Amino acid sequence: MALRPPALRAGHLRLLPVAVALVVAAAGLLGAQAQAAEEDSDPLGYVIDPAALDDPATVADGAELFRVGCVSCHGPGGVGSPRGPGLTGAGAASAHFYLTTGRMPHTGASDEQAIRKPPAHSPEEIEALVAYVASLGEGQAIPHVDLAEGNLQEGGDLFRGECAACHSATGAGGALSFGQNAPSLDEATPVQVYEAMLVGPGQMPVFSPTAFTEEELNSIVLYVETLQNLGDPGGFSLGRVGPIPEGFVAVVVGTGGLMLVVFLIGRRRTGEAEPASQPVRPADTVGAGR
Ligand code: HEC
Ligand code: HEC
Repeated sequence: MALRPPALRAGHLRLLPVAVALVVAAAGLLGAQAQAAEEDSDPLGYVIDPAALDDPATVADGAELFRVGCVSCHGPGGVGSPRGPGLTGAGAASAHFYLTTGRMPHTGASDEQAIRKPPAHSPEEIEALVAYVASLGEGQAIPHVDLAEGNLQEGGDLFRGECAACHSATGAGGALSFGQNAPSLDEATPVQVYEAMLVGPGQMPVFSPTAFTEEELNSIVLYVETLQNLGDPGGFSLGRVGPIPEGFVAVVVGTGGLMLVVFLIGRRRTGEAEPASQPVRPADTVGAGR
């Protein structure tokens, strides 16, 4: 009876690494699943439903948001002002690009480059604002990206010929004149890459479907996506097989490794500590009884 508390405590301690392993494994799996769910629901990065832009109620919501957050620079009805260009011909693609990349609302001086940052608006608000800007006049629609239509080899040739001069051959970006820079293409979603070519933000030229066919545009987007996957920041990438298998490997390797440690610790205890622990026990029991 008196021996039970220390024995139990040793048992608990031995279980601790197992508990830690299980918690770590569960957290890894949950994280991987959450990430996968997020990517699966919007793999091309639309954020909004382009088909919903004609709804008059959405346009009205957008008008209200525009009045609050955009009129100060773009003028009432988007006619333009000294602080921002007119938006009457901007179109849905431009508004979608500028809002989903967080470039708008602009936070610098009007002659400063608009930079990518986390979007200031929720997907619903972006949908409404895009609907409103699109309602101001004729402009490019949000493109329908189809990576299956793209050809990687063709995309690579076009990218090296048309984009690498500014964005570098790896898409890492580079400096331009007047303190501006061509940003890294690491974060752009497929839709944003396509839209950038249609819109030509800042100093970037417009590559409309007159310069490239739809298939060529899809090829370039496919190539940029491939560059992003090649541009792993380091570490063991598992060949970018995706979050679910990666999570699974983490579980197997992590749990397996910790089990091995537990096994080794357990062995050492029974091998060496057994005789030594006998005389310690009474002292332990006295301690526990205090
Ligand atoms: C502080 C001033 C400022 C505010 C606020 C602002 N913008 Fe802009 N916006 C600019 C400037 C300057 C540019 C041009 C910069 C560039 O093209 O890189 C611009 C460019 C744009 C463009 C691209 C125009 C084109 O010709 O394709 C769109 C679309 C746009 N803004 C939408 C918005 C929306 C929507 C809001 C409100 C959420 C907003 N902006 C808020 C200053 C502003
Ligand atoms: C003359 C230089 C130049 C060329 C050529 C060029 N770009 Fe750009 N690109 C820029 C600049 C500058 C910006 C940033 C625009 C701004 O200030 O908002 C940009 C922005 C982008 C973005 C947005 C990145 C982000 O994360 O927000 C994408 C995507 C992009 N370019 C793709 C391309 C592709 C694809 C090509 C080739 C078809 C290309 N660019 C050719 C200069 C260039």
